Amino acid sequence: MTSAVTIPRHGGTGGRTAVAARARQVVKAYGSGETRVVALDHVDVDIARGQFTAIMGPSGSGKSTLMHCLAGLDTVTGGQIYLDETEITGLKDKKLTQLRRDRIGFIFQAFNLLPTLNAIENITLPMDIAGRKPDKQWLARVVETVGLADRLKHRPTQLSGGQQQRVAVARALAARPEIIFGTSRPETSTPVPAPRSSASFAARSTNSARPS
Ligand SMILES: Nc1ncnc2c1ncn2[C@@H]1O[C@H](COP(=O)(O)OP(=O)(O)OP(=O)(O)O)[C@@H](O)[C@H]1O
Ligand SMILES: [Mg+2]
Repeated sequence: MTSAVTIPRHGGTGGRTAVAARARQVVKAYGSGETRVVALDHVDVDIARGQFTAIMGPSGSGKSTLMHCLAGLDTVTGGQIYLDETEITGLKDKKLTQLRRDRIGFIFQAFNLLPTLNAIENITLPMDIAGRKPDKQWLARVVETVGLADRLKHRPTQLSGGQQQRVAVARALAARPEIIFGTSRPETSTPVPAPRSSASFAARSTNSARPS
């Protein structure tokens, strides 16, 4: 994967950079010798703030690898990754864990909901682990926007696939992250689109000014 997109670094976002995340000359190689696979070969990419960016390409082209590296879930073999102005490549484990927890939201393909927790407990779990109190007003708005207000006491097995997906979306939004990474559902399964309103809400949310 070698495509490159660049966006002006500064622009009408209230003084914050217009780029939420950047990859610079990123190389990711797996294995060694004959089994060595270069999944990312000097990738430059800018992910714009407050917009949707889709990474598309054939199976095995490195989409998941790029996303994992951008989100600090995997290490790179070479190059740099920045979240806003913070270089995350080279951060020690503890700092990286904190950064992922405080500044990044994730929507995983399998949603990764805890079966023993109900919807609202799943939504606030990352903040509970961090010992942070959720912003009640914000949380109510997120829950309302994704249409889960009447399902908050239900556990994942008592929710439909689309509702589970929306719990995962709400969980990613609850802590007001700077950027949200998500993987699409497997191509073999029926797509469950998030309501249009939650999609545009998600874009606006990551765009909103946060106290620094
Ligand atoms: N842990 C690993 N060890 C060795 N090779 C790997 C590993 N993970 C991924 N790869 C290889 O790296 C390449 C990129 O994989 P990646 O999962 O990023 O592809 P993808 O674009 O997400 O594909 P898909 O659309 O099928 O999900 C593939 O050729 C894959 O075989
Ligand atoms: Mg993939």
